Amino acid sequence: MNNIQYIYNQIGFKGFYKNKDESIKDMLKAFYETCKDCTKCALSKNRTQVVFGDGNPDSKILFVGEAPGADEDIEGRPFVGKAGRLLTTNLESIGIFREKDYYITNIAKCRPPDNRAPEESEMAACSYILKKEIELIKPRLIVALGKTAAVGLTGIKNISPTKQRGGFIKSTPKSPVLGPDIDVFITYHPSFLLRNPPQIKNFQEDLAKIKDLIKRY
Ligand code: URA
Repeated sequence: MNNIQYIYNQIGFKGFYKNKDESIKDMLKAFYETCKDCTKCALSKNRTQVVFGDGNPDSKILFVGEAPGADEDIEGRPFVGKAGRLLTTNLESIGIFREKDYYITNIAKCRPPDNRAPEESEMAACSYILKKEIELIKPRLIVALGKTAAVGLTGIKNISPTKQRGGFIKSTPKSPVLGPDIDVFITYHPSFLLRNPPQIKNFQEDLAKIKDLIKRY
């Protein structure tokens, strides 16, 4: 017990009341502590560290990507490499900031070799972490960045971000992380945009829609 707690106890206060922000952050931190040595799938063999979510968990806006790349694996934070910078700068240019406006995480929390997409079994093994992140954050808007995220969130295998971007897809009972019928907004993965810069215009259109949705929450 620290000094302040002691004094509060002496004057009859039974406990400390933390604000909601702190408690979600604390609960995530405590949960992450329990999975930082996870070995549920083979990706654990080559990773530097497990890369958990980052940002403001109280914002109720959750972006979900695929899996950490080389930079994320070293730094321990999602979306800090080239693709991450593309996403971050495009969001910041319309006034949406990671520290205050959204939380961001990945379907798989460990880097797959050669930046390949995580396999179905790896996504399934890792789903308990995203499921818990969603349970704690209770997001009102979930944004899937690219196909792997959209598949992992909804349980639907044949999704085309190129055709379905800019709108919602509903999760199905096959989703390992969401209940059925939850809306998931889908847009491009920023790595795809690095390879296809002309599509950035469409991406910016999707981000403008996201900004509009955020304003309503
Ligand atoms: N960085 C991430 O953290 N996730 C991705 O999906 C891509 C880059």
